[in-house]
Amino acid sequence: MTTTLHSRGRKSDSVRELRGVALLGDPVHNKGTAFTSEERVELGLEGLLPPSVESLERQVERVRRHLDAKPTDLERYIYLIGLADRNQTLFYRVVMSDPARFIPILYDPTVADACLAFGHIFRRARGMYITRAMKGRMAEVLRNWPERDVRFICVSTGGRILGLGDIGANGMGIPIGKLQLYTACAAVPPACLLPVLFDIGTSNDALRADPLYLGLREQPPSEGELDELVEEFIHAVQQVFPGCCVHFEDWKGTDALRLLARYKDKVLCYNDDIQGTASVALAGLTTALQIIGASLTAQRILFFGAGSAGIGIANMIVLAMQMKGLSQEAAHSRISLFDINGLIEPSRSDLSASQKVYAHRAAPSEDLAKTIETLKPTILIGVSTKGGAFNQPVVEAMSRLNERPIIFALSNPTDKAECSAEQAYTWSKGKALFAAGVQFPEVSVNGQTFHPGQANNFYIFPALGLATYVARPARITDECFIAAAQASADQVGPELRARGMLFPSQSEILEMEVTTASRVAEFMFDQGLATVKRPADIREWIESQLYTPRY
Ligand code: NAI
Repeated sequence: MTTTLHSRGRKSDSVRELRGVALLGDPVHNKGTAFTSEERVELGLEGLLPPSVESLERQVERVRRHLDAKPTDLERYIYLIGLADRNQTLFYRVVMSDPARFIPILYDPTVADACLAFGHIFRRARGMYITRAMKGRMAEVLRNWPERDVRFICVSTGGRILGLGDIGANGMGIPIGKLQLYTACAAVPPACLLPVLFDIGTSNDALRADPLYLGLREQPPSEGELDELVEEFIHAVQQVFPGCCVHFEDWKGTDALRLLARYKDKVLCYNDDIQGTASVALAGLTTALQIIGASLTAQRILFFGAGSAGIGIANMIVLAMQMKGLSQEAAHSRISLFDINGLIEPSRSDLSASQKVYAHRAAPSEDLAKTIETLKPTILIGVSTKGGAFNQPVVEAMSRLNERPIIFALSNPTDKAECSAEQAYTWSKGKALFAAGVQFPEVSVNGQTFHPGQANNFYIFPALGLATYVARPARITDECFIAAAQASADQVGPELRARGMLFPSQSEILEMEVTTASRVAEFMFDQGLATVKRPADIREWIESQLYTPRY
């Protein structure tokens, strides 16, 4: 008997036998030392492997020992990416065995180091690079990808990565890592995921001068030219991979907002920096409000930082308030913004259209603590990149005005957080309901131990991806993200809440993502967004489609 394997599942035109060294070099089909004696004979592998036949579990044990012996997380990242290049099943088996441990290695914060060094640690391309040289031929180029059933493309220009600024083609680590989390957290089958680096050049002089830099050594194009390139790309994706969802990630802020506004009602797409961030912030707020028994529509919210994250969160809160019966105008009136030039109010001449709707009549102010005394917010959200801005007077003012102030310091990395968990809990005397953009260690105040929550987008986007994978919606609406936020909040049980946690436990990530995905898929069916037949039992139906890493 001859075993025939399909190369990466591309069945139509390149069914071929993978044998011998070619089989060992194919990460999708390679089992390494787990090939059985019979398979070794059938597939021309005899002599190419050590004699011992191992189980997947034994292979996992060896990988974990290798990882334990590595001195840094960047080394672990490099090792894991190498493993994914050799044996995809083993890679996901390892990662899915303990996602809470491996997510910080595959993604934030280690991926930031990996991106900085990307040209230097590069081993092998793990996605596609689209450049302006391919203008007019993007569909043809996309057809070079060996898979036909691509259901998600995560695409980045590398224009604004995790607080690193414009890192151009080094940003490829981001779409790779983000899509690996679809599988690691929510068991979305990896074959349907395609990372794309939309290389438009970089404004980063140091990178352009680095001999090992792998991207285009050009300045980014004008907005008009960029938009033309993106327009072609979006159409090419639909042509080559019908029904594929485009996940925009880490584009420059203004490009991100403009492109999302242009495409979100036209094609299946979303932007995790904008919508995912907004959704996870709303999830934390929803939990905090459930803890104090207050309604969202009754809150006064002050944003410190009015950039893409701040505006995105504010807009989603407005929509959530509207869904609870408030008019859009009334919802806008409950939110104020404060940026690098102070409180956003009508006399300011530097406001964008998306900021103007939050410019309410108020005296100009450049003093945050004073603005808090005047506006009396119940919720303070930091998305400013200004580390330490929530100083003692700010936290104390929030605590004086509110029995349980809700304070989110979402800027990252850690040195940019508006305050630390320790500061928030100490200065508020344990009253604050706190979340951060980074994971702070637990804090003890007056004998009580608090576990600060991290508003990490992985509570939302893998679940949203899984729901999209199964329900195949025509569009992803902001309301889908609100459904995901509510599902996340509903999974924070009383025990976690008592410890100050505003997000679900990380001990059962897959379970949590499947629960959220079930709720989002249900919402997609209810709203008529899904394009497949509604199953009798949505959860069971989703569970039957989960990827399991096994040979
Ligand atoms: P951005 O650059 O678009 O906006 C920054 C905003 O902060 C601008 O409105 C700016 O005027 C304001 N700002 C800067 N310095 C200030 C100062 N000294 N005082 C008052 N306001 C000041 O950045 P973006 O994309 O909105 O991100 C902001 C922060 O949020 C970043 O640190 C980012 O890491 C973080 N973030 C956190 C997420 C999470 O926790 N899940 C997700 C997305 C972003």
